[in-house]
Amino acid sequence: MPHRLQHWGDQVNPDLKLLQPYPFEKLNQLKAAVTPNPELEHIALSIGEPKHPAPDLVQQALVNNIGRIENYPTTKGMPELNQAMADWATQRFDLNALTTEQVLPVNGTREAIFAFTQTVVDRSQARPLVVSPNPFYQIYEGAAYLAGAQPHFLPCLEEHGFIPDFSSVAEDVWRDCQLLFLCSPGNPTGAVLSLQQLQQLIELADKFDFIVASDECYSEIYIDGQAAPIGLLEACARLGRDDYRRCVVFHSLSKRSNLPGLRSGFIAGDADILKAFLLYRTYHGCAMPLQTQLASIAAWGDEHHVQENRSQYTQKFRAVLEILQPVMDVKQSDASFYLWAKTPIDDETFAQRLFAEQHVTVLPGSYLSRTIDGVNPGANRVRMALVASVDECVEAAQRIRQFISTL
Ligand SMILES: Cc1ncc(COP(=O)(O)O)c(C=O)c1O
Repeated sequence: MPHRLQHWGDQVNPDLKLLQPYPFEKLNQLKAAVTPNPELEHIALSIGEPKHPAPDLVQQALVNNIGRIENYPTTKGMPELNQAMADWATQRFDLNALTTEQVLPVNGTREAIFAFTQTVVDRSQARPLVVSPNPFYQIYEGAAYLAGAQPHFLPCLEEHGFIPDFSSVAEDVWRDCQLLFLCSPGNPTGAVLSLQQLQQLIELADKFDFIVASDECYSEIYIDGQAAPIGLLEACARLGRDDYRRCVVFHSLSKRSNLPGLRSGFIAGDADILKAFLLYRTYHGCAMPLQTQLASIAAWGDEHHVQENRSQYTQKFRAVLEILQPVMDVKQSDASFYLWAKTPIDDETFAQRLFAEQHVTVLPGSYLSRTIDGVNPGANRVRMALVASVDECVEAAQRIRQFISTL
């Protein structure tokens, strides 16, 4: 599909033409072609934006420190913030005390994933590859193109638990791979990689000399009472690999703490790679404002609101699945706040008609994935984000059930 930026002509970076429209642009077009049922209020299960309230202690810290806008922040961050992030990761993933050289603050993981790719890709190689799951968070693809690399997609299919079948990847792909993106828990599938899978990938990274970047921004959203998802650094630590060589993880306050507007997260792992990333960031100019840093310290130091958040998502999963499972193929995901449901008709038509007839928005799965060798792993699936209130999620599930009964 030609991109809307093409009319900019030759004055811009030609790689911009490789960027795909964002899934929500496609969704807006799909919805604009129909009129929603005017008798029903709209319910959005489409955007992965948390709707639970932001924690008071974070809001308070922001207000108390608003005067800090008078100071320039450093890119490396305040030592107190670096310590708070290192402590959180050490405790959560049972690490051997992460040092403050092994962690850096970022203004949300979206910018970090993008900037990190620019930092590590060596475009002088013959065929630089960035290997990514498919479906995937669209930044992986755009970051690869703008770094001068090619994305190489690995399908996440149900028969492999929605995790790529890494054992079937050709050796020449691993040889040209410079960066492997993992997303665990996955967006949109919710699938979590196992310790064994992570350790096999670390072995492959050593063998073929590439970096593993694990996007773990949904790691704290899992079913109450179940084991917390394992992370890449934890897999390293269990191998005694305390330098986390070739490995980095991305964590965010957006989903964990309902703070998508704070723009705060961190990257942690291999200190040598982070040193290069810090250099890149210094030029890029993405230091985190001091009041955001101080509010982030408050957020990383509190687990009470995270537990509360988790129990609300758990309640929503239970209620929605009880309504939907009798009428559609939809399973409890390992973690995250997404359901990755199979649709009885093609996903675009499903989403469009559901919007028109029941005023509920879901995201067609094929908008989140690419067709490779004739197969689109998102086809005939929709992503439902259980971000609205429990009552709204239940109402949406009832309307979806009603819609399916008319098919
Ligand atoms: C898989 C994944 N990674 C990263 C992000 C970026 O989150 P943020 O920039 O808010 O940390 C998102 C946001 O939706 C996401 O779904």
